[in-house]
Amino acid sequence: MHTYQFLNQRRRVRLTWPSLSAAIGCLVFAQAFAQNTATGAAGGASSSPTYLRDIQPIFMGNCSRCHNQQSRFVYNWLDYKTAYADRWEIRRRVWDSLHGSYYKEAMPIANSPESLALSDVDRQTIKQWVDSGAPRGVAPSPDGPKTKAERIQLGRRLFTSICAACHQPTGLGRPNMFPPLAGSDYLNADKSRAIKLVIYGRQGEVVVNGMKYNNNMPAFPLTDQDIANVLTFVYNSFGNSGLEVTPEEVKFQRTQAPEPAGAPAPKSIFE
Ligand code: HEC
Ligand code: HEC
Repeated sequence: MHTYQFLNQRRRVRLTWPSLSAAIGCLVFAQAFAQNTATGAAGGASSSPTYLRDIQPIFMGNCSRCHNQQSRFVYNWLDYKTAYADRWEIRRRVWDSLHGSYYKEAMPIANSPESLALSDVDRQTIKQWVDSGAPRGVAPSPDGPKTKAERIQLGRRLFTSICAACHQPTGLGRPNMFPPLAGSDYLNADKSRAIKLVIYGRQGEVVVNGMKYNNNMPAFPLTDQDIANVLTFVYNSFGNSGLEVTPEEVKFQRTQAPEPAGAPAPKSIFE
């Protein structure tokens, strides 16, 4: 069954690609959408990468600072439809340009921290995803972990694929660019504010451990479970305060207004 689906996907790409028009594009999208939702439902054992499971986390970590929901001049790759529609250009930019067989600038833009963070395995995964028909897959089950230890374990994975590209695997961030999460007074002083920051993103001046930053963290399409897991991991790593964040808390914070950017940080528990 798996082999059949794979062949089917290959054939579809070969037939439609040369004659790609808006109308056919739409049709293919609808077909891929239906088919891939069905594929995903059959189980997580499929070997070809899917958008929701493999690709979106890579985009969140390595593309989202420039390609996000707020950006007006470049596409938002955190949206499946947009990424699917432009998948061949994505493949060329992350793969062919890097290997010198395509003339446009390789992505992520040269000398950005993301260009260093995106690994060869990530690039290969993106290429494979496009080559196999760019399936959407299914969102992970909303039933998350029950214990704090499980939450930390899952959160570690999300941190590595998303947050580490900017905040670095050590959590130390980068001077003048990405604030540290390690021992961050901003993070540890106010859990609700940290949850809202990950829900809504943040732009503007922020002071972390006495250093000023003025940059942009995009909002990510993460579930309540994801945000609870990743923040629990962060709070229990890098010398932070050890708090746990639950999906219920994240759900509640979604009903609250975002913090005004640039608000002064309250006194930290580390002071
Ligand atoms: C530091 C900012 C930055 C990052 C990070 C970045 N991009 Fe871009 N991207 C741009 C800019 C600016 C353009 C428009 C200029 C151009 O086309 O080269 C662009 C254009 C593109 C295009 C061409 C779109 C089109 O059809 O015209 C693709 C595809 C692309 N980016 C993919 C990616 C992917 C995939 C990632 C992550 C793996 C990524 N980019 C990361 C800034 C960025
Ligand atoms: C694209 C880069 C980028 C990614 C990916 C990213 N952040 Fe951020 N983050 C930033 C920037 C930039 C700021 C400072 C925003 C400002 O200047 O207003 C920030 C600020 C923060 C802060 C508050 C300041 C501090 O250091 O305590 C927290 C907490 C945070 N991020 C957590 C996360 C978590 C958790 C993830 C992963 C889900 C994540 N970030 C992913 C760029 C990023």
